[in-house]
Amino acid sequence: MTTTPLVEMRDISIAFGGIKAVDHVSLDLHAGEVVGLLGHNGAGKSTLIKILSGAYKKDSGTIRVDGKEVEIDSPRDARDLNIETIYQTLALADNLDAASNLFLGRELTNGLGFVDDAKQEAECRKVLARLNPNFKKFNVPVSALSGGQRQSVAIARAVYFNARILIMDEPTAALGVHETKMVADLIDELKAQGLGIFLISHDTREMMELCDRVSVMKNGKMVGTERVEDVTEDDILSMIILGKNPVREAA
Ligand SMILES: Nc1ncnc2c1ncn2[C@@H]1O[C@H](COP(=O)(O)OP(=O)(O)OP(=O)(O)O)[C@@H](O)[C@H]1O
Ligand SMILES: [Mg+2]
Repeated sequence: MTTTPLVEMRDISIAFGGIKAVDHVSLDLHAGEVVGLLGHNGAGKSTLIKILSGAYKKDSGTIRVDGKEVEIDSPRDARDLNIETIYQTLALADNLDAASNLFLGRELTNGLGFVDDAKQEAECRKVLARLNPNFKKFNVPVSALSGGQRQSVAIARAVYFNARILIMDEPTAALGVHETKMVADLIDELKAQGLGIFLISHDTREMMELCDRVSVMKNGKMVGTERVEDVTEDDILSMIILGKNPVREAA
């Protein structure tokens, strides 16, 4: 691809104590692209994306957004760059409804400075109608929603606040088949809208279906990044297990 990537992470490293959690890793993401991160537990996937989301500060390396070098020192910095994250453990306030969660910490207020519930609900209905037309549960606490419906609310929040770069850390890990399909449809829709998405999952087959490219990490290092049409599921599995890229190196 010749266009400037939405995100370029170059030579990123971070260590915790003696452990090199991410060790000289480089990765790009283009608009309208889904890039998957695969690898064993502790490979460094979440740590890498937490550097992009401002949760951790890298020890070294550079990050560019739209070709321009940026410093991401906090989640606030990431948000200002339209980078939104949906974490492994979904952070929704259980006792609040969908609209209140959508605007949590960024409430819409009326002229008197009070939260404008009617306006929030109207906006919430608008954005969810676009993302998940089947969503009906607007007036119940999100604790009463299914896992997939909760994901819809979390994704709606990112989309409403103009995410251009969406990070999803195991969004389907706790979901059933039907719910996973719903999130997969959401991802396709966001991709069509031109967002760039980093997706982390342990489900290799699901990743082959959802992603344009997949990257495999092992022990903090990048094993390789390949377009899904260039590799088989077995290639990916051997990258995960052996830490070698059969597409690039002779076995
Ligand atoms: N805050 C932290 N303090 C110390 N060590 C950490 C911290 N965060 C991550 N690590 C270590 O960094 C390494 C990479 O962890 P990370 O969470 O990125 O793995 P992962 O690939 O996301 O794994 P999983 O698939 O289990 O989610 C692990 O050895 C982990 O113990
Ligand atoms: Mg993780």
